Amino acid sequence: MKWTALLSVAAAVVGSFLAFTQHASGHTDEKVPPNYEVQIPAGYRDWKLISVAHEAGNLNDIRAILGNDEAIKAYREEKFPFPDGTIIARLAWKYVPSEENNKVFGSEQSFVAGSPTNVQFMVKDSRRYSATGGWGFAQFTNGKPLNEAEPKPCFSCHEPAKARDFIFTHYAP
Ligand code: HEC
Repeated sequence: MKWTALLSVAAAVVGSFLAFTQHASGHTDEKVPPNYEVQIPAGYRDWKLISVAHEAGNLNDIRAILGNDEAIKAYREEKFPFPDGTIIARLAWKYVPSEENNKVFGSEQSFVAGSPTNVQFMVKDSRRYSATGGWGFAQFTNGKPLNEAEPKPCFSCHEPAKARDFIFTHYAP
């Protein structure tokens, strides 16, 4: 092997070791405030559908609730509380009339997803997020997280659903 190739292999090994140790220390550093570190989970847009919902009023949106494999398994097997590793995503879009569809129907009856509003996540880690029912909460608008003052209102508003592990959405068969 040429020296340059050897060097790049060595750099890659060192790089991945550093990435690993940073990741690992991120998980054990108890000084990180819970809930504020939830990142956008990779591939969430491809997750399976749990249900849909529509909010009227000021929000006036349409939303899809998706779950990772752990979430879907727990829902389908009706095994609650959700296991650690569960992530539930709530995607929302403006609820807008579709002129294109209405022309076909001949009346004002079609509403569809318009521009995206925000995405919310609930991540289950019963130890890490023990102060908020075992769930980490996060919201992103255009990929940007809400500031850190927000997770508390998230949790307190989800408390009425305590009997169902703080999750409101029922699985739509
Ligand atoms: C005003 C009360 C309220 C607040 C504040 C709130 N939620 Fe919710 N959330 C709800 C309700 C009710 C639902 C179910 C109905 C719906 O989807 O519109 C829900 C649904 C969800 C869902 C889908 C899973 C479920 O429980 O049904 C997620 C994920 C979620 N919220 C995350 C968050 C995050 C993250 C925050 C904070 C940034 C937050 N919520 C703040 C009331 C609230």
